[in-house]
Amino acid sequence: MTAGTLALIILVAILAQVGVAAMIEIYRRRRQARDLDEHGGMSRTLAADPAPDMPTDGPSSAAEAWTGFREFSVKRREFEDEGRSICSFYLEPCDGKPLPAFRPGQFLTFRLAVGDPAEGESKNVVRCYSLSDSPRRDHYRVSIKRVPAPPDHPDAPPGVSSGCFHDHVQVGDRLMIRPPSGHFHLIEDELLPIVLIGGGIGITPMLSILNSVLERGIGREIWLFYGVRNGSEHVMKGYLQALADKHDNFHLHVCYSAPGADDVEGIDYDHRGRVDLPLLRNTLKLARYQFYVCGPKPMMESLVPGLEEWGVDSGDIYYESFGPATLVKHEKPAPATTGAHPVKITFSRSGKLLTWDPAAGSLLEFAESNSIDVDSGCRAGSCGSCQTALTAGEVEYSQQPDADIEPGHCLLCIATPSCDLVLEA
Ligand SMILES: Cc1cc2nc3c(=O)[nH]c(=O)nc-3n(C[C@H](O)[C@H](O)[C@H](O)COP(=O)(O)OP(=O)(O)OC[C@H]3O[C@@H](n4cnc5c(N)ncnc54)[C@H](O)[C@@H]3O)c2cc1C
Ligand code: FES
Repeated sequence: MTAGTLALIILVAILAQVGVAAMIEIYRRRRQARDLDEHGGMSRTLAADPAPDMPTDGPSSAAEAWTGFREFSVKRREFEDEGRSICSFYLEPCDGKPLPAFRPGQFLTFRLAVGDPAEGESKNVVRCYSLSDSPRRDHYRVSIKRVPAPPDHPDAPPGVSSGCFHDHVQVGDRLMIRPPSGHFHLIEDELLPIVLIGGGIGITPMLSILNSVLERGIGREIWLFYGVRNGSEHVMKGYLQALADKHDNFHLHVCYSAPGADDVEGIDYDHRGRVDLPLLRNTLKLARYQFYVCGPKPMMESLVPGLEEWGVDSGDIYYESFGPATLVKHEKPAPATTGAHPVKITFSRSGKLLTWDPAAGSLLEFAESNSIDVDSGCRAGSCGSCQTALTAGEVEYSQQPDADIEPGHCLLCIATPSCDLVLEA
């Protein structure tokens, strides 16, 4: 073989390699654009600018919030994880009027009529679901996880509302929804770097915050630490990776606590284990951040106090519970007595005078265990369903109420008595 032939072969080999690399890059970019397109319609701008249908001028300047329930129809539904346990629902108002914006991190409250096979009739169920995308004028999105019976009660009925969404709510169906609300939301007074920590379905408010910050295109530094068990539960995997590839200011860290046989560290996920304080300390620079935390009970109970112990100012830590199982701060237990006598609770409408039992946990559970009929929904101080007039006495809350409470009322689900009470129930 002559030197000229050898040089030609080498040249052809190099050109072939360059060609293959270019084709892989084109494929990667097309996939990235498709992933972004499917989850928020951001491929037009690759999230550098606000999407055209997104309010850019803050929540208050958009349409007015409605009161009570408003009718929405389901425009689209799609699963977000390989295991098909989390499904997104895109919701359009039936009156066709523009939607008020919301603060990223807030939730919607739904009233569903759920069939009761035992009784052959339906009952109303109230539940809250976080908005999982940035504000848009024509639709909202929520992403709902199917909740099975708990492992220690395998015979219990599965989650009523989540099961209804997954099994029965279809495109075109109508749903009754209260306006966006909640005190857990993105704070924009100070443009500090943001650390989002989402465990399991606690990713939903983080998605809303993340999309909103990136769409604004102001380069605010944002970190997402996302913990799931394994690849089958990894929500919007391609979409999140595409965002991280596209934005230098977005840093994604995915943790699998129990990776599956096909899950590859460094490709499917970044860290084996849970999102914990050592990971945060090793990854984040020493600086001031805003921390947003939402996840299952063990994550909340370790991380929220852990961050404070690490020296993070409690005013820079925002967290949300998704239900009674994830409440974080239980202040001092409610007293069983006031001075010499036991605490008395009068339920005036039911005509019952009862002695408070601190083991009940909350006034809602105390009422239910004494067969007093009280409305409830989230059981976490969020939806306002259990609001009850308090005609005498004072209550204490185990966490900051999310629902706005009318004067002279209290939320039974997160309240315990400070003294004798008279409740209109
Ligand atoms: C502010 C807020 C935001 C939220 N955002 C989201 C979100 O974005 N996405 C999301 O998926 N969820 C979210 N949630 C949680 C959601 O509101 C519901 O709590 C969740 O869907 C479960 O409701 P369910 O009706 O399906 O289950 P439920 O019917 O309330 O049942 C809950 C559990 O109790 C078990 N159970 C039922 N009966 C018994 C019994 N007799 N004994 C023992 N166990 C029993 C069920 O099997 C189930 O495991 C949010 C909650 C709040 C408060
Ligand atoms: S049940 Fe929702 S606030 Fe009490």
